[in-house]
Amino acid sequence: MSGHDLDVREGTPADLPLIAELLGASGLSAASVRLDAGRYWLARDQGMSLVGVVGLEVQGTAALLRSLAVDPRFRGRGHGVSLVRHAMKMAGESGCTDVYAYSTGATEFFVRCGFVPASVAEAAGRLSSAPQVMHYRSTGELNQEKAWRTTVRSAGREGQ
Ligand SMILES: CC(C)(COP(=O)(O)OP(=O)(O)OC[C@H]1O[C@@H](n2cnc3c(N)ncnc32)[C@H](O)[C@@H]1OP(=O)(O)O)[C@@H](O)C(=O)NCCC(=O)NCCS
Repeated sequence: MSGHDLDVREGTPADLPLIAELLGASGLSAASVRLDAGRYWLARDQGMSLVGVVGLEVQGTAALLRSLAVDPRFRGRGHGVSLVRHAMKMAGESGCTDVYAYSTGATEFFVRCGFVPASVAEAAGRLSSAPQVMHYRSTGELNQEKAWRTTVRSAGREGQ
């Protein structure tokens, strides 16, 4: 199944355990996942199996794409790219011009999605009240992170 066949729906606070389980299976922490301070989308395949999740924390014209995970059993089918495209569309609809992400792994994946290396401090400055940034600051993890940035395409060019 290609990534285009996904059913992507926004999560609610009741989905937190499901999100945490999916993130845990991908080696990501759910410690700063807050459904009241960010938006999360859950992707299911046609059999309604949960295949992936992506989150977005918006501050002004910047957004932090976070908690991107595809269940290991469903990787390599384009679902990751589809989830990033969905998050980018949502960021654009929220009035964002730039989308950042923190990731020490998945370098080729982010490059493939159009992200370029960015300053960790720049991302943290523009997203100072984003839960993931506040969490990284409090734990000291920010110093070990790598930041990525991409520009939101205008709505008129979306999908081209
Ligand atoms: C990163 C991740 C979401 C990609 O999901 P996916 O569904 O396998 O990605 P896609 O199938 O859309 O892959 C798109 C391309 O990126 C490549 N790619 C996927 N994961 C990659 C990774 N971890 N490192 C490098 N390249 C990767 C694929 O080979 C593919 O390239 P191709 O089209 O030239 O073959 C998934 O590997 C994952 O959940 N990783 C663990 C969590 C993580 O690191 N999240 C990112 C930080 S929040």
